[in-house]
Amino acid sequence: MTAPLPAPTDPDPSFAELLALRPHLTRHAFDGLVMEEVPFARIAETVGTPTWVYSAGTLRRRFGALRRALDDAGLAAATIHFAVKANPNLAVLRVLAAAGAGADVVSEGELRAARAAGIPASAIVFSGVGKTEREIRLALAEDILQLNAESAEEVEAISAIAAGLGRTARVALRVNPDVDARTHAKITTGRSENKFGVAISDAPALYARMAALPGIEPVGVAVHIGSQITAGMAAYRTAYAKVGALVRELRAAGLPVARVDCGGGLGIPYRDEPAPLPEALAGAIRVGLGDLGLPVMLEPGRWIAGPAGVLLASVVREKRGATHRFVVVDAGMNDLVRPAMYEAWHGILPVAPEALVAPLSPAEVVGPVCETGDTFARGRALPAMQPGALVAFLDAGAYGAAMSSTYNARPLAAEVLVDGARFAVVRDRQGYDALLAGQRLPAWLATPEPGP
Ligand code: LLP
Repeated sequence: MTAPLPAPTDPDPSFAELLALRPHLTRHAFDGLVMEEVPFARIAETVGTPTWVYSAGTLRRRFGALRRALDDAGLAAATIHFAVKANPNLAVLRVLAAAGAGADVVSEGELRAARAAGIPASAIVFSGVGKTEREIRLALAEDILQLNAESAEEVEAISAIAAGLGRTARVALRVNPDVDARTHAKITTGRSENKFGVAISDAPALYARMAALPGIEPVGVAVHIGSQITAGMAAYRTAYAKVGALVRELRAAGLPVARVDCGGGLGIPYRDEPAPLPEALAGAIRVGLGDLGLPVMLEPGRWIAGPAGVLLASVVREKRGATHRFVVVDAGMNDLVRPAMYEAWHGILPVAPEALVAPLSPAEVVGPVCETGDTFARGRALPAMQPGALVAFLDAGAYGAAMSSTYNARPLAAEVLVDGARFAVVRDRQGYDALLAGQRLPAWLATPEPGP
């Protein structure tokens, strides 16, 4: 069982404060909450709820801001590989591809999604501790930019598969720098007890082994220390300093190093936490790795896509509980699991114009799923909500739809892309036929038996 979210102790940001930091969202006197130039009410009328809504302009703007931060830090050769796990929607990937993004993928499905969205294989990096033989073969057949190997065992496997195919795999070695990124334990990846990468002390010998093995071209070192990193740049600085020292050691041993993959992890302010800017990340890279004269790669997911998306939901009804007022919405933890899984705070804005100025009182915002953990917010100041009233869950563009499930036999929600005054459904709401598709009864159960 998931414990209910703790009630926040200091006051939440107001609706106006939440809007001020999210320029793609505005409040219109007649239309209510608007994304770019499209009122959410219009999307709900045509597509229904719950629906994920993404702002193409925000994706472009944030990608551009990251690009500029790298350029301004003298890292013009850096490449940005969007972490597809954050949002594998093809339209989202297409917008980012058109802006110049490559992809960081961790599965065959993500590799296929990136290619289907038009991201060239030469801009795709494949990470992850559990790449299967089939996935490694596909990566080689597609001739992607590089595989990030996470263990000595995987290095041997890649060598055997590539040599067997008469191919050469470009492989970077992911190291585990044993630093604490001071983020949620479930998304910390750079501690020695985590499953990711190889101990940095083992890296020189393993890298030399990579250079000696058939079917492998060692191309560099990769590091990724965690996600939603907001506690300053210290962990990044330490990690990049360790990687810089490793690269110098490899070079001194005569081993080729072509690039460094700096990972992702840059956090965003969901509530009012002071989150670092991309300039700070670019600066940490510059300080730790700048003097190596190597191109770097970045694998950001959340920083680009998180703020660009909203989960639009309708109020089913308000319920007066014994101790609390519950606002029950038609989205559940099966749609947006982050509050249940990471105690995550997401802003919630009412959509109707009058709701944004109505008197507020604390509410528990809950979904319909039969778990107490299906709670989006506790003690959240919201106006009285009538059935059918719309609400927007903010910053749901990363690890939102991507992590959704059909728990409680609830179909996957639709996805919509907004681009200026236009919007389009970019993923249909799952139908009930599709929900049950693929299931079959075994022959011996095909004829219903009489009940007891
Ligand atoms: N590169 C690697 C190797 C990763 O494992 C990840 C994220 C990223 C890049 C992108 O990290 P980002 O820039 O998005 O922080 N479901 C969790 C987040 C899991 C992150 C997993 N790895 C959440 O909802 O907070």
